[in-house]
Amino acid sequence: MSGTPRCEGSPAGFANRQGGAGKSTTAVLLGTELAHKGVPVTMLDCDPNHSLSIWAGKGRLPAGITALSDVTESSIVKTIKQHDVDGAVVIVDLEGVASRMVSRAISQADLVIIPMRATILDATIGAQSLQLIAEEEEAIDRKIAHAVVFTMTGNIRTNQHKNIEASLREGGIDIIEPPLTQRTAYSALFEFGGDLHTMESKQGNMATAIENAEAFAMAVYKRLTEALQ
Ligand SMILES: Nc1ncnc2c1ncn2[C@@H]1O[C@H](COP(=O)(O)OP(=O)(O)OP(=O)(O)O)[C@@H](O)[C@H]1O
Ligand SMILES: [Mg+2]
Repeated sequence: MSGTPRCEGSPAGFANRQGGAGKSTTAVLLGTELAHKGVPVTMLDCDPNHSLSIWAGKGRLPAGITALSDVTESSIVKTIKQHDVDGAVVIVDLEGVASRMVSRAISQADLVIIPMRATILDATIGAQSLQLIAEEEEAIDRKIAHAVVFTMTGNIRTNQHKNIEASLREGGIDIIEPPLTQRTAYSALFEFGGDLHTMESKQGNMATAIENAEAFAMAVYKRLTEALQ
């Protein structure tokens, strides 16, 4: 990746107990944008709904991405460690429930990303995910870096969004900027596979869709590299 320090192996997990918060979409956007910048990426599908595998199964898997779907509660730690090599990023897409698999993935993560829609209901359920991370920190006796990213936002920040953001910041929660806006190009990744850069069917303004996804991915990458220093 030009102009950016290489990170050592960096497992990043996506967790939120709220179903449909945007975990899998955000995971695919992160993986594909990092790969586009030349970072080797391993993506682990740890959700029984297999959203990641649906995306990978469409073919056109970008160069530099390995997608694994048969990860189990028993193999998750070993699989993360195996792919956690210098310069690479391991991305784990989790299911929306608290489980042993989720705990184990969180325990291995350099960064846990909590995608959250900017609504009161989602923020309330998202707070349970923050609690889960706090419990995991207690269990393994180390801090686990984590950050919220708002998903499916509109172009203008609603008052609800601003209030939720302010209250999270007050609680010391890291919020990734920019949020990921609601775009058909993002949901279309699961229809066409591949990445935003090679999507043949134009879905809205692709340049702004790419710009948003890239800026999000770089903000995550920065946290991963800083975490390792
Ligand atoms: N930024 C976005 N723009 C447009 N659509 C989105 C965006 N993020 C998510 N979606 C859509 O919202 C729905 C839920 O997203 P996704 O499957 O990524 O959430 P999830 O948290 O992984 O859900 P689950 O808990 O079922 O695993 C999907 O239909 C997806 O296409
Ligand atoms: Mg999912």
